[in-house]
Amino acid sequence: MSTTASAPTLKSKHFLTLGDVSQEELMGLLSFAAHLKDLRKRGEVYAPLQGKSVAMYFEKPSNRTRVSFEVGLNDLGAHPIFLRKEEINLGVRETIADTARTLSRYVDSIIIRTFDQGEVEELAHYATVPVINALTDQYHPCQIVADLLTFKEKFGDFKGKKLCYLGDGNNMAHSLLLGCATVGMSISIGCPPDYIPLPKIVEKAKAIAKETGAEIEVTDRITHAVEGAHAVYTDVWVSMGQESTSSKYDVFQDYQVNKEIMGKADPNAIVLHCLPAHRGEEICGNVFEEHAETIFDQAENRLHGQKAVLAALFKS
Ligand code: CP
Repeated sequence: MSTTASAPTLKSKHFLTLGDVSQEELMGLLSFAAHLKDLRKRGEVYAPLQGKSVAMYFEKPSNRTRVSFEVGLNDLGAHPIFLRKEEINLGVRETIADTARTLSRYVDSIIIRTFDQGEVEELAHYATVPVINALTDQYHPCQIVADLLTFKEKFGDFKGKKLCYLGDGNNMAHSLLLGCATVGMSISIGCPPDYIPLPKIVEKAKAIAKETGAEIEVTDRITHAVEGAHAVYTDVWVSMGQESTSSKYDVFQDYQVNKEIMGKADPNAIVLHCLPAHRGEEICGNVFEEHAETIFDQAENRLHGQKAVLAALFKS
């Protein structure tokens, strides 16, 4: 019979961007996620959220995020309530403030996936229960907990390590910048000049990195970005809701993660992908399959990472 470690606490009431999570807090979440993963593999029950209910409002499609949150809530003893856009229609059927205040009377937390980060911030402002960002056009903080957990499982530590992200300076790039900076891992974003991450987020990552010793870089020099990287990360070139901007495929062609690109990375480099993957676009099929074990570890780690976030928010 093993002892269950205590969940870490977070200063922030909500989990919205990762930018307000300290290094100590993030490392605590990663350790606790690894602990919960171990407990689950051994069939041990950890259910501190018995009797709690959690609303999950999704305006965008999802496989990993929805399923891992529902399974995670079930593991923790909580009851997930999935709400479709057709039912809530956030900010249209009634004000966001009224939705937040109503849901807060019923449920113990709100998980939201939508387009506009501003809507998530507004919901959190009026909610009296913790709000968790399950992806917006600007951030995907829950994904980063899984990504860093996967990296830590493979390399043990972040100091002196480098992650290269190739592709659009989108929500994944933003959240990776903040997450890598916080744990002290250097990050190089390789992206076309017209698709750089938001400067305010790069500046925020640089400010965090000053304290943690990470190096932050945004460049269109692809070989330079990937040189010596311990992890090469990519995401689809056209994000959810932007499918009409198909001209991006020409611009991003040179940023594909393939054998040639991987030849510039550290010889033991792993490949990470938040999924879904488009083989032949942002990643070639043979590189994907060569690294599939790690990529699906990363997908599995969504479950353990989010359970750690939920346990921490409910404890704080
Ligand atoms: N990576 C990710 O968020 O996957 P889903 O869109 O399937 O949830």
